[in-house]
Amino acid sequence: MKAYRARLLRFDEDSGAPQFDEDGLLVVGPDATGRPVVRAAGAHGALIDRFPGVAVEDLRDQLIAPGFVDMHIHYPQTDVIGAPAAGLLPWLEHYTFPHESRFHDPAHAREVARFFFDELARHGVTTALTFATSHPASVDAAFEEARARGLRFITGKVLQDRHSPDGVRDETEQSLVDTEAGIRRWHGVDRLGYAITPRFAPTSTPAQLRGAGELAAKYPDVWIQSHVAENRDEVRWAAELFPQSRSYLGVYEDFGLLRERAVYAHCIHLSTADRERMAAAGAVAAVSPTSNLFLGSGFFDYQAADAAGMRYGLASDVGGGTSFSPFRTMLAAYTVGREGQTKPGLSLTPGQLWWQHTAGAARALGLQGVVGNLQPGHEADFVVLDPKATPLLARKTAQASSLDELLFALIVLGDDRAVARTVVNGR
Ligand code: GUN
Ligand code: ZN
Repeated sequence: MKAYRARLLRFDEDSGAPQFDEDGLLVVGPDATGRPVVRAAGAHGALIDRFPGVAVEDLRDQLIAPGFVDMHIHYPQTDVIGAPAAGLLPWLEHYTFPHESRFHDPAHAREVARFFFDELARHGVTTALTFATSHPASVDAAFEEARARGLRFITGKVLQDRHSPDGVRDETEQSLVDTEAGIRRWHGVDRLGYAITPRFAPTSTPAQLRGAGELAAKYPDVWIQSHVAENRDEVRWAAELFPQSRSYLGVYEDFGLLRERAVYAHCIHLSTADRERMAAAGAVAAVSPTSNLFLGSGFFDYQAADAAGMRYGLASDVGGGTSFSPFRTMLAAYTVGREGQTKPGLSLTPGQLWWQHTAGAARALGLQGVVGNLQPGHEADFVVLDPKATPLLARKTAQASSLDELLFALIVLGDDRAVARTVVNGR
């Protein structure tokens, strides 16, 4: 058992409201099965007498918060960050597919995976739902590395059997065999989970999507991840390829890919009916604001999502996204929310932004009560943040007179320098 005395941020699991202790205590120790979990969290004065003899680390000038949850990222695109192109489809063709073709090589996949997980840790991200590539070796490399680090982590082999160049295109039958083998090998091992991963509707044949949907029905607690309604050219292309479907989102619905634990990146150019279908099915959006701004894709409509009752959380979408940093993603989400020319503009509060990247993201992934929060029983994944990490951050946080002001200073001015420590599984 170990305890930390610090400023402490966590969330009410039901309302999403932030809970803050200026002088807090976080106690971490094994649960009945020996897994490291939060044993207690709250005011130091109220808790300390329950834990006599437990070593307490004094971090009173720091802020302890839940580890960040990234709902959508591509580990093989670590080296694609910052590649300019005239929007999504040219970006895929000229940069992304050539980079991803290298992941048939297990040594290359392993090297990038190691760098990727180091980078997640440096930025305070403790759980990610990530794309691999179409090569099974890319999946094994990521799972092996995540397992060695004790991470709660989800990935899967990308399915793309058409409209894709040699080197990344897979073969329909084999792609489904490989997916099922991946599920059996990795899903539920330690803290790992598998995601059935059709890249997006335009790069899969109907037969491949049908097979993916059959696997999704056979393995209901396995995740599904894909992209939808990111960019207008892509939406047009999907409509041409699947004229019988109600909409782009309707393609996924028609093939049995809309259900709980289905995570769709972007969800920008959706109709009200699409949003309502997502909400009814329990499928969720991975909002990826730095990517949407970089690729000029559009602006996620928070008000419409809320009106439909659709769930969502935040994602970096590296390498379309421009940063691993949850602070950069939360700031971009604020900017996207404020945009009021193409949709209603609103001001997300710092508490809402932080929730969307921690407990709210975990809830959207079906991992509520497991990660993303620091309530008793949650797995022991957290970050220690330094509000004095840079001169400007120190100056600004010293003047903060409320929790909102403290969190907003970190969102706007914080980056990896503010992440003093990342604790995964109690270590
Ligand atoms: N749509 C299909 N593939 C991709 C990808 O790799 N990144 C993004 N942002 N959108 C996609
Ligand atoms: Zn993506």
